[in-house]
Amino acid sequence: MSFLVMDHVSARYGNIPALFDASLSVERGETIALLGANGAGKTTTLRSISRMVRTSGRIVLDGRDLSRLSTSDVARAGVAHVPEGRGTLVELTVKENLVLGGYGARRKEIRRRMSEVFDTLPRLAERQDQRAGTLSGGEQQMLAIGRALMSEPRLLLLDEPSLGLSPRTTSDVYELIQRTIRERDMTVVLAEQDVGYAMEVADRAYVLQAGYVQDVGPTEDLQVSLVNQYLA
Ligand SMILES: Nc1ncnc2c1ncn2[C@@H]1O[C@H](COP(=O)(O)OP(=O)(O)OP(=O)(O)O)[C@@H](O)[C@H]1O
Ligand SMILES: [Mg+2]
Repeated sequence: MSFLVMDHVSARYGNIPALFDASLSVERGETIALLGANGAGKTTTLRSISRMVRTSGRIVLDGRDLSRLSTSDVARAGVAHVPEGRGTLVELTVKENLVLGGYGARRKEIRRRMSEVFDTLPRLAERQDQRAGTLSGGEQQMLAIGRALMSEPRLLLLDEPSLGLSPRTTSDVYELIQRTIRERDMTVVLAEQDVGYAMEVADRAYVLQAGYVQDVGPTEDLQVSLVNQYLA
């Protein structure tokens, strides 16, 4: 069985359906991209996994059914979710945000993880006492990813890391994502509208349109031009 399985999952916000009968699977160590236009259901798919939206169907992580767990239980099961818009605490410093990401671990362990995050993200190390709200957009995105890594997740969910960033900064952030995946042998589900970057880091991609999974394949088989048609 795959590491993560979503089996005929539908999701709704109150009476508003947002995801219809979606099935997907992720192998251990694999990076999956969720591609699609605004409103296609990318964020909802990630929220379904981290239990931030009500779903029907089955969601199984490493043999464990997530669908009856709370958001915090899913986090304890090893899922870290970097939300759209990052969700860093702007009043707190870089270091304080990272400490929160390691919630539950012992102090010494938090220090060890933080120094690992700083190794991967030297720009955060330089700014560790700076308030998160004063970081640039790209640095905030890096902090959000760093904070997620502090929990040493088994599954990392990334929601539109490129959102609001210049092409240059997006490229920096993606370089970091690629390095993180390689160094830590991570399993990642990445929602992204920027098809080019997502296809570069992902092994396979699912294309979503209006809440339905329309296509799936290894990224080298999915043509960017074809995927862009779905996004139009
Ligand atoms: N809190 C909510 N309440 C009601 N409807 C919602 C809510 N969040 C999302 N939706 C609806 O669910 C559908 C899917 O939204 P979702 O946020 O998953 O799309 P997305 O692919 O992430 O889009 P984007 O690229 O704009 O982030 C949309 O039609 C949206 O309007
Ligand atoms: Mg979204």
